[in-house]
Amino acid sequence: MRKILVGFFMCLLMAGMVYAQEGAGMKDTFSVIHSRKSVRNFTGAPVGRTDLDRIIRAGMAAPSAVNAQPWSFVVVTERKKLDELAAGLPYARMLLKAGAAIIVCTDPDKAYDQNRDLAVIDASLAGENILLAIEALGLGGVWTAAYPYADRMNHVRTVLGIPQEVIPLNVTPVGVPTGADQPKDKYKPEKIHWEKW
Ligand SMILES: Cc1cc2nc3c(=O)[nH]c(=O)nc-3n(C[C@H](O)[C@H](O)[C@H](O)COP(=O)(O)O)c2cc1C
Repeated sequence: MRKILVGFFMCLLMAGMVYAQEGAGMKDTFSVIHSRKSVRNFTGAPVGRTDLDRIIRAGMAAPSAVNAQPWSFVVVTERKKLDELAAGLPYARMLLKAGAAIIVCTDPDKAYDQNRDLAVIDASLAGENILLAIEALGLGGVWTAAYPYADRMNHVRTVLGIPQEVIPLNVTPVGVPTGADQPKDKYKPEKIHWEKW
């Protein structure tokens, strides 16, 4: 009986360790991928620095051509700056209720072969990792375009002091979701070509 009890408590301890490692409330990879959606409705609550740091770390874990990592990130939490960004970005008005924004930037000079396309591809992968990390933490986010629109990129550069040679790829508002936004089912088997087009 004693052995059974010891075994039972060992199992409980191990389960607790796994839970602590994974993080309370963390979703598994596939459920994060499939539950990610563009969140445009936020409660207005702030987003903590620890969460923002974890999100950016996930961004930096993305692959990049020849591991060039041409990206950089501007994290904005000040209400005034979020509102200033919103003022020049008609498709990013959800910034007005977001707790923070992450601006994914990329520098073609730092990309492999100084190739602008690779710079954009690399940073886009970081941008998707960021969206998935936001979802995994139970927060909401949406990719809003700066690139390839000159007027939007210039507005973002001006508000945040980003150098001219750096491309602000997107503005990702981050916040606590109201629950109004839901994932879409986009699975279309006809888009898959097995073995040959
Ligand atoms: C390159 C790119 C630009 C986008 N620009 C905007 C934007 O400016 N404003 C916006 O509300 N959503 C924007 N989106 C989000 C898309 O509208 C959204 O991803 C799409 O409708 C699919 O919905 P889902 O993200 O919920 O799956 C953009 C997405 C991408 C990939």
